[in-house]
This record gives sequence, C-alpha cells and structure tokens, in this order.
Amino acid sequence: MSQFDVAVIGAGPGGYVAAIRAAQLGLRTVCIDAGTNKAGDAPALGGTCLNVGCIPSKALLQSSEHVHTILHDFAEHGISLSEVRFDAEKMIERKDAIVTKLTGGIKYLFQKNKVESIFGRASFAGKHGDNWQLLIDNGKGEHRSIEATHVIVATGSVPRPLPLTEIDNINVLDNEGALNLTRVPGKLGVIGSGVIGLEMGSVWKRVGADVTILEAAPTFLAAADQQIAKEAFKYFTKEQGLNIELGVKIAAVNKGANSVSVQYEHNGESKTVVFDKLIVAIGRIPNTQGLNPEAVGLAVDERGFITVDDECRTNLPNVWAIGDVVRGPMLAHKASDEGVAVAERIVGQKPHLDFNCIPWVIYTDPEIAWAGKTEEQLKAEGIAYKKGTSGFGANGRALGLGKAKGTVKVLTCAETDRVLGVHMIGPMVSELVAEAVMALEFKASGEDIARIVHAHPTLSEVLHEAALAADKRALHG
Ligand code: FAD
Ligand code: NAI
Repeated sequence: MSQFDVAVIGAGPGGYVAAIRAAQLGLRTVCIDAGTNKAGDAPALGGTCLNVGCIPSKALLQSSEHVHTILHDFAEHGISLSEVRFDAEKMIERKDAIVTKLTGGIKYLFQKNKVESIFGRASFAGKHGDNWQLLIDNGKGEHRSIEATHVIVATGSVPRPLPLTEIDNINVLDNEGALNLTRVPGKLGVIGSGVIGLEMGSVWKRVGADVTILEAAPTFLAAADQQIAKEAFKYFTKEQGLNIELGVKIAAVNKGANSVSVQYEHNGESKTVVFDKLIVAIGRIPNTQGLNPEAVGLAVDERGFITVDDECRTNLPNVWAIGDVVRGPMLAHKASDEGVAVAERIVGQKPHLDFNCIPWVIYTDPEIAWAGKTEEQLKAEGIAYKKGTSGFGANGRALGLGKAKGTVKVLTCAETDRVLGVHMIGPMVSELVAEAVMALEFKASGEDIARIVHAHPTLSEVLHEAALAADKRALHG
C-alpha cells in the first residue's frame, strides 16, 4: 500500500495549491481528484474554478465585452464597421482552449513539484496506527488504497438545487450549462441575482439575449456596500437593459420541449414568463458526496460543511479541510490561501489568514470590488468612521478608456484613521482592490494611502483621491 505524509482530496484551487506547498516543504504528497474534462473522457485538474467557474466565466466575459464595445463604443472613437458577426460556438471554443491550457498547467506543476497525482474518488476507509486510510475508486471498477499521516479535504462545492426543477443542462442550466451555450438564447431567465447570475446574465445580454433575473431577496447584492450596490443596480438595469426583479417567489418551473416557463409572485402579483433557457444560480453547497466522513467520525455541520476551527483543523487529528467545503466565502483565492496555510501548519509554521482582508470581485462592467467592512457593517457594529468617495467620471485615464463611470469609497476609523473598508465600482477595480487589501493587511491609515504617490494618469488616482476625501482634503472633488 502506498504511504504518504500528506494526502490532499480534491485538486481545485484549494487542493492543488495545498499539495504543491506541502511538496515544496519536503512532505511526500499525493493529490487525488475525480474531476474530468468537458467531454468526460479524461481527468482534468483544477476543480470548479478552472473547469466550470472562475476561468471560463472570465473568458466569456471578455469575449462578450468585445462584442459590446464594437457595437456600442467604437463609433465615438471614429471606428465604424459595416458588418459585425458573432459566433457563440467560436467563443466557447476559445474558452475551452483556455481551460485546457490551465488544467494541463497544473499537471505540469505537480510533476515539477513531485506531487503524485491520482485520478479517482477518494473516501475515508479507516485508520491504521497514526495513518488515515483512503480508498480510491477510478470509476472503472478499480479500487486502490493509500495511507497518509495527514489528510487535507478540499472537495469544494456544487450548485444549490432548486427544489422545483431539475438541472438538465439543456434548457435548465447550472453554471456548467451557462458556460457552454453555443447559440445565443432569445429570452434568457436567470434565478438568483448573485455573482453567477450577474456575470452570466451580463455575458448573454451583451451578445444579444433578452435577460430577466429573478431574485428572492428584497435587497440587491446584500453582501456589498449598499451605496455601491445601488449604483450597480442603476447601471445594470437602466443602462444595460438587464431586467432584474427583486423580492420574487418562484412558484413553479415547467420545462417544455424548447422552452421553460417560470411562474412567480412579485409585489403580490402572479406572473408567468416563458424563456428559451433558464440559468439557476441560487448559491452553492459544500460537497462531501462519496467522501464517507461517517466511516471515521469526521464532523459535518447541519448545512453540510466540514466543521473546522480558525486554522482549518477538523475534529480528527491530522485531518484538515479547506476551501468551499468549509465555512467562509466560497472564493478561489480564499481556498488557495487556506491550502498554503494548512501545508505550513503541518510542518510547524505559524501562518495567518485574515478573512477581513479577503477581496471580493464581481466581473461585471463596471466591475465591483471590495475588501474590509461595508458602511452597513460599521453602523451595525457601532464603529465611528470617516468616509471619502471619488468618481471615475473626471479621471483622465478612465475617460481615455471610454469607461469613466463608477465610484471608489474609502472608510476609515474616525478615531485612528485606520482603513476599515474600501468599496469600488468602476473600470478594472478587480486590479485596484489589491492596493486596498494591502492597506488593510498592513493596517494602513487613510493618510498612508493619501501620501503614496500614484502614477498619473491612472485609475488608481481615484482611490488616492477617495482617501484624501476621507480626510476632507480632496484635490479634485
Ligand atoms: P473546487 O474548485 O470545487 O474543487 C474541488 C475538487 O475536488 C473538484 O475537482 C472535485 O472533482 C474534487 N472532488 C470532490 N470530491 C472528491 C472526492 N471524494 N475524491 C476526489 N476528488 C473529489 N471564485 C473566485 O474567487 N473568483 C471568481 O471569479 C469565481 N468565479 C466563479 C464562477 C463560477 C461560475 C463558479 C461556479 C464559481 C466561481 N468562483 C469564483 C468560486 C470558485 O470556483 C470556488 O470558490 C473554488 O473553486 C473553490 O475551490 P475548492 O478547491 O475549495 O473546490
Ligand atoms: P450567490 O450566493 O452569490 O447568489 C445567489 C443568489 O440567489 C442570492 O442573491 C440569493 O438571494 C438568490 N436566491 C436564493 N434562492 C433563491 C430562490 N429560490 N429564488 C430566487 N433567488 C434565490 O450564489 P451564486 O451566484 O450561485 O454563486 C455561488 C458562489 O460562487 C458565490 O457566492 C461566490 O462565492 C462564487 N462565485 C464567485 C465569483 C467571483 O468571485 N467573481 C463569480 C461567481 C461565483
């Protein structure tokens, strides 16, 4: 039987990064993953993120943004085209090529770092002395057993099902189906105006679909700072034509041969809309399917998450869990950072991960990004704060890009000036948020950001100006 220091279950951004770090630290490491490629005929490392999540969605967002730019923004640059054709199949092919390149890249990284990679579904089988025993099923009736001193569970998450209907990825789609449409649907329905709903709704709207998003919550993007969320709602609905209905209750979903009808209640009215395709994006749930946690008494909470402490330790000695399968935001970078931290803890290091410093990004246009506390959280916690805002409307670089829209808001402690939160909507704020994260991690003050020289003309000047505004000394406001 093969023997390892560390067995990582799952090769998503949590598991593959944990495995590489463990191997770098001199631990004999194996990573077991059951993921396959789109055709289902070969193993594919990278988990949700690389195969059906972060990477493919950003590829489609870029392609669709090009379409939108050509159709709506080129004219003001003096560019006119007599004919514009869009080929959805080609867009999907490009996306698939990016996925294949990156999933193949992990295979190479495993070889380079001497991580043994095994294809198959791993389940807990028991304990032998100090070692955990895992059974691996490769799906072809072949089983293999291994032993490891430490196990890192990184089995990720799966879409939350809507009890009213089943995903068939033909007309009723989850993230996988939404990323693989090869024809633009005439009428697209989306249930859930969360991150996936907004990103996927944007992709298909930009290339011509008529998109309606049905959201149960009465508040739009409740986790985001509400000033930014309200600005976003205005752009998405008024300027981009996404039809977003808040506070709905879905009553029925009926599949036809080539359509899906959704019946729902909104403001006391019962409505029925027929869509060509329907995306269901109502959150994700932890995935412990086939893991057999009961065999060893691994604690799982009532919502299905593996129970862990602040350092990702489970209730069992030397069994750790990271990423989407445990509490905290379901984000790739959170999963990876937990993976690194666990590998380092195994060899006795003392890494630290501060959840308050984990950035959020929504890759719509304009993008939304934030780190730290929202104004609503500061109010609820009774923390006195100062606020500075600045817009992209008069920023030279944003104007040149043709994307002079959006706001940066800096929140600092009224007493100490420490940066408490930074909230942004605007061009490339996915990149700008890194400066905010650095400020939060280094416990910087608003004045620190204000005194840093920001290149001109750049988008980062808006963050600089917002920090100045928090101290009531904006130069261009
Ligand atoms: P996963 O990536 O889910 O990987 C888990 C792996 O474990 C899978 O390969 C699975 O096959 C394998 N596995 C499960 N059980 C077993 C078993 N018993 N044996 C062997 N293998 C097993 N996050 C961001 O930060 N930025 C984004 O832009 C972003 N975009 C997203 C877009 C979409 C459409 C979706 C769906 C998600 C997106 N996310 C994004 C979220 C991100 O994908 C997840 O947070 C991240 O993938 C979680 O990583 P993980 O390693 O915990 O799990
Ligand atoms: P989400 O949690 O972001 O949004 C789900 C939305 O569906 C919520 O607004 C919720 O109120 C709504 N909802 C729930 N039940 C409903 C119902 N029955 N009817 C109507 N609406 C309902 O989840 P989403 O969009 O599925 O994404 C899952 C996770 O994947 C995200 O939370 C995020 O962690 C990750 N992700 C991250 C991205 C990024 O970082 N850019 C991109 C996409 C996903």
